Amino acid sequence: MPGSELPSTANLRPDFIWGVSTSSFQIEGATKEDGRGPSVWDVYCQNGEIKNHDTGDVACDHYHRYREDVALMKRLGVQAYRFSVAWPRILPQGQGSANEPGLSFYDRLVDELLAAGIQPWLCLYHWDLPQALEDLGGWMNRESAAWFADYTRLVATRFGDRVKRFATFNEPSIFSLFSRSLGKRDRSSEGNLHRTIHHVNLAHGAAVDVLREKVPGASIGCIHNYQPCWPSSGSDADAAAAAHLGAYWNNVFPDPQCRGEYPSLMRPAIDPYIQPGDLSRICRPIDWFGLNHYSPVYVKAQPTSLLGVEFGEKPAGVPLTPIGWPIDPETFRKTLRIVHDSYGLPIYVLENGYGSFDRPDKAGAVIDTGRIEFLRAYIGAMNAAAGNGVDVRGYFIWSLLDNFEWESGYSVRFGLTYVDYPSLLRIPKSSFRWYADLIKTAGQR
Ligand code: FCB
Repeated sequence: MPGSELPSTANLRPDFIWGVSTSSFQIEGATKEDGRGPSVWDVYCQNGEIKNHDTGDVACDHYHRYREDVALMKRLGVQAYRFSVAWPRILPQGQGSANEPGLSFYDRLVDELLAAGIQPWLCLYHWDLPQALEDLGGWMNRESAAWFADYTRLVATRFGDRVKRFATFNEPSIFSLFSRSLGKRDRSSEGNLHRTIHHVNLAHGAAVDVLREKVPGASIGCIHNYQPCWPSSGSDADAAAAAHLGAYWNNVFPDPQCRGEYPSLMRPAIDPYIQPGDLSRICRPIDWFGLNHYSPVYVKAQPTSLLGVEFGEKPAGVPLTPIGWPIDPETFRKTLRIVHDSYGLPIYVLENGYGSFDRPDKAGAVIDTGRIEFLRAYIGAMNAAAGNGVDVRGYFIWSLLDNFEWESGYSVRFGLTYVDYPSLLRIPKSSFRWYADLIKTAGQR
């Protein structure tokens, strides 16, 4: 198939890690089973905020089918699997008594992974905040850092004998921005956004301390969505808007976490929430930078919006994925460089992938040539970055399975494996075989 040849991986380290990523709410289902409490996303679903009124109630039914899913990963040949723990599954009220059946689910998952020779990479937070904590103000409440530290202690104590890789948060900038400013949700205001940002940063620092204390040999990071924000025209106003949004999207979490300072653009807005000692509470030594990257973001000025910005037109002629995201591997290469130069940490790419509307053909096969071409180009760009000295040590595809894609529900598909939602049958796509081939070939170098 033209375009499906394997990219060169010659510049990657011999111990480079190939993996796949998922998250709890997007795949587990079983939202009302075994004592799990509701999360904010259950409530968004109930409120009809999701396309086609989809919910996470069944999702991929991974809660019951995790063995089959680990077997798929084994077939792929990945060395690592990044998943998240659902906070409300193990602490239904967010704090207080732990839910044993929820903890046992993750015991079974971790044991299954280890038996398959796959390293578990555990992310503590992929957006499914217990609703009980949201009712107390969620991340807008400064106490949230202490709630998160207690939750982290429970996870670390229970799984730290077998899990050594931990991420504190997935994409803090995305859930803060989209829940408190760019999104439609209630309680958007500049104050709420800035408070949320600072408290999530405090929670990150507190969790790092707990993990260091409880898990000897833990390797810890935070996962950032880093997409360069570019002006959609040559006007000064759009350039300023792009710089403004870029600081929120890309820097407001890694800068204080890795360098102990907020970007100067937003320091005055966050200042009212900073107490003495906070920046050193946030800036704790970490081991790596988790990078999620898909495409650049085009921005224009919009004086009436909360941050004075809105999404702008993409330049004419830019190739797009079927769901309309720019395909721009060169920007991926540059992003790896920027992250390397800015933060000086080893980088693990913990999400990259291609959203589309795949369907099985008459023979039941899912031929996703577009995804293969995308992955080939992006992995090629990563190899080029590594050749120029960028310290990139792993690459995880989003995602193992088609899943609940937030506001888009099940309408868009990112999986290497097709999920037939009515039957929950898993059908590996052509990209699945291609990735398996790539991992095998890269390992034979
Ligand atoms: C990222 C999210 C992940 C998934 C992909 C497509 O922003 O972390 O859960 O939705 O986008």
